[in-house]
Amino acid sequence: MGELGFEPRIVALCCHFCAYAAADLAGALRLQCPDSIHVVKIPCTGDLDVRDVLAAFESGADGVMIAGCMEGDCHYQTGNLRALKRVERTQQVLTEAGVGGERIRMYHLSSAMGGRWAEVAREMDAHIRQLGPSPLRPVGGASAGES
Ligand code: FES
Repeated sequence: MGELGFEPRIVALCCHFCAYAAADLAGALRLQCPDSIHVVKIPCTGDLDVRDVLAAFESGADGVMIAGCMEGDCHYQTGNLRALKRVERTQQVLTEAGVGGERIRMYHLSSAMGGRWAEVAREMDAHIRQLGPSPLRPVGGASAGES
């Protein structure tokens, strides 16, 4: 059940070639995306490390989206497939740590999928609102996506 007055902070790690371009397109088309989503451009989801995701939670994220190219379309061959395995491992770590593995999700998008980006952004926002604040969220401290 969601917490009253809770405003989630969600870090969206988006690969430069597809997901970031899709997020950009959604913005250009003025599609409605929640303010809770903070897009961070990365070269490829295959570069992600479990520690990068944990660092996002430690700096105040309530949820993390990993968004890469469609399966088979990664510009670095199998980066998004490697990322999928790391996401699964990170989900296990988060579950064992009591944070909740369901706070991280992976999506696959092409650069033309501005509409789909807006849809998954709203879906992730609703999902994290339902879960409530991350137990790792610093009280009164700096938050993810703010500097
Ligand atoms: Fe997009 Fe690898 S370049 S996931």
